[in-house]
Amino acid sequence: MPETTALLTPASIAGAAYIVAALLFILSLAGLSKHETAKAGVGYGIAGMAIALLATVGVVVSDAWGEPQAMLGLALLVAAVLIGGAIGLWRARVVAMTGMPELIALLHSFVGLAAVIVGWNGALEASDLSGALLDIHHAEVFIGVFIGGVTFTGSIVAFLKLSARMKSAPLMLPGKNALNLGALVAFVVLTAWYVVTPELWLLVVVTALALALGWHLVASIGGGDMPVVISMLNSYSGWAAAAAGFLLNNDLLIVTGALVGSSGAYLSYIMCKAMNRSFISVIAGGFGIAAPTSSGEVQGETREIRAEEAAELLRDATSVIITPGYGMAVAQAQYPVAELTARLRERGIGVRFGIHPVAGRLPGHMNVLLAEAKVPYDVVEEMDEINDDFAETSVVLVIGANDTVNPAASEDPGSPIAGMPVLRVWEASNVIVFKRSMAAGYAGVANPLFTRDNAQMLFGDAKDRVEDILRAL
Ligand code: TAP
Repeated sequence: MPETTALLTPASIAGAAYIVAALLFILSLAGLSKHETAKAGVGYGIAGMAIALLATVGVVVSDAWGEPQAMLGLALLVAAVLIGGAIGLWRARVVAMTGMPELIALLHSFVGLAAVIVGWNGALEASDLSGALLDIHHAEVFIGVFIGGVTFTGSIVAFLKLSARMKSAPLMLPGKNALNLGALVAFVVLTAWYVVTPELWLLVVVTALALALGWHLVASIGGGDMPVVISMLNSYSGWAAAAAGFLLNNDLLIVTGALVGSSGAYLSYIMCKAMNRSFISVIAGGFGIAAPTSSGEVQGETREIRAEEAAELLRDATSVIITPGYGMAVAQAQYPVAELTARLRERGIGVRFGIHPVAGRLPGHMNVLLAEAKVPYDVVEEMDEINDDFAETSVVLVIGANDTVNPAASEDPGSPIAGMPVLRVWEASNVIVFKRSMAAGYAGVANPLFTRDNAQMLFGDAKDRVEDILRAL
């Protein structure tokens, strides 16, 4: 049956493998949406990626087989995969949990850069298309380069901000909204121009425009809104990959890119809702956000407390809420915190955790740490579930959290984090704040909680101080 044999070409096998891989990616996303199924979700993702890689490499090898020049290309590809894979494996093994967001931002920048390179390659390569198909090809090149360029520099700025190599305060250029809007209009005009007369200088201009716009968009967003920026760049990197998929004629890249693009956009939307921010405003580089008017200076005296006194307060408490933040991750204090929780519960004291949606530096960062230390899920509550209970709480332990418990967000309309919902810890009878100094949190905003009458500071590394309390108990 010669027809049947002809159907089984490397390309058709790869096509079938791509469908299986795409389904596995969808299952992976579905799995990742819940605690219980997250591990299976990761498994589906790994399986999908392995199948996709094998199929793609299989097609390339079968196309190149026997042609000396193509074999050289193949050798280069293998060398690149091995070197890149080794670097990736090493970085992923050594990265600390707290360094994860900047690593992710850096990886997004690679997707953007790849899309720019694929776009340029598409423009320089001789094309056998004609008529409307050639016009579409030119539009694909231009759109791919633009999305890729924005993603590339935007992700680099996010990397610099997240790794504290660049100030997290928003860049406030005069007429910044007009600049962003002007860049978008210029892009549309240039795309139409390029489709009609595909001259190389137009591609140079759009590349420079996209790189500048990406830089400006993310630089204009303040520290408090960085979580949304990460998921937004995740979304952009998906669209950049999809654009590259169109140029490379690779269906799987289009499907995967669209999955990443739309799920990233949805995550950004959820985060904006959780933080009371306008989605459009954030993705448009802080469009419509006025410059903060408050200096955020904290007036008043702080009171200090020693670990022994904190233990005394806890011993007499009837209810305790722990609100962890980035400092708990830095100190790796989740293990003694879990032990403290168990000890207090043994004494009949109700202990719960209040988790802010953007506490730490990753979505779900605190949940991961607490699960790692085996804190039972049923005492870990989201901000909305627990926020009304602070008023009836004897002691709140703020462990390495700062922006997420800052009263200025709800009380000072001029504050850079004004309007962001926060954990209302100051309503409790006693608040103990664990931190090393009076330094501000990630958003760079001073915190008036520290000078409240019912708040006391327990200075030092959070892990050491929790262990001191455990000893005193
Ligand atoms: P932050 O506001 O970042 O404050 C963390 C606090 O931990 C700091 O005040 C720091 O004070 C303290 N700290 C650091 N190391 C410590 C240690 N070893 N022991 C004790 N304390 C330590 O934390 P947060 O309340 O979790 O808020 C998160 C912030 O990050 C928000 O602004 C959020 O928008 C932003 N962000 C979040 C994400 C995601 S997705 N979650 C991503 C990017 C940015 P000292 O230096 O004085 O000790």
